[in-house]
Amino acid sequence: MIEKVNCAKKAIEFVEDGMVIGLGSGTTVRVFVEMLAEKVGEGLDVVVVPSSIDSHVLAVEHGIRTASLLEYPEPDICIDGADQVDRDFNLIKGGGGALTREKIVASASRKFYVIVDESKMAERLNMPVPVEILEFAYGFVKRKIGEMGCLLKLREGKGKLRPVISDNGNIIADVDAGVIENPGELERLLRIPGIVENGIFLAEMVDGVIVGRSNGAEVLKR
Ligand code: A5P
Repeated sequence: MIEKVNCAKKAIEFVEDGMVIGLGSGTTVRVFVEMLAEKVGEGLDVVVVPSSIDSHVLAVEHGIRTASLLEYPEPDICIDGADQVDRDFNLIKGGGGALTREKIVASASRKFYVIVDESKMAERLNMPVPVEILEFAYGFVKRKIGEMGCLLKLREGKGKLRPVISDNGNIIADVDAGVIENPGELERLLRIPGIVENGIFLAEMVDGVIVGRSNGAEVLKR
């Protein structure tokens, strides 16, 4: 937990008065929101563009002004967590099922900073890759993923039979591709009609990774 606090604290240093902030989702972002709310209470003037219903509710509950990409199509900065970060800063995201809106908000923003505790850092990506799939296309997508030699597994959640359904009303599943030697190639292969988005966020999107450790945080830039 202290690692999450430390990376969130460091991320707050990137926030300036008057900024529009793309807001990711997840437990690390939650810590960031709590700290941001404190600053807002002290007079900081910011607007956040949330990337999930969860983050939207959280921001409102913390008294932080929210807006959408309709009002602010180019946020100044996006702060979001990740499930895994490789040595080149490619990411796997979508552990919370919010990958599609997260990729849109991160892509829309001028700068994208990732906040992670050090346990998320890996030499190579090797976790199953979250994908959001239109229900109509599920059978076809499953076949194509199988032809790639990968395993597609419907996400299971708590309190409901599988699958987890995204904020956009689509199926969340995970593609087990083993160790991902070439994230760019896999990201391209996963652009199957019916896959709304995949959870590989390529390094070219990332301006910096803020890694929280027990004794502070380090900002890594390419
Ligand atoms: C949400 O869908 C994800 O992309 C999160 O950003 C990611 O899972 C990181 O979440 P935690 O901060 O909870 O680990």
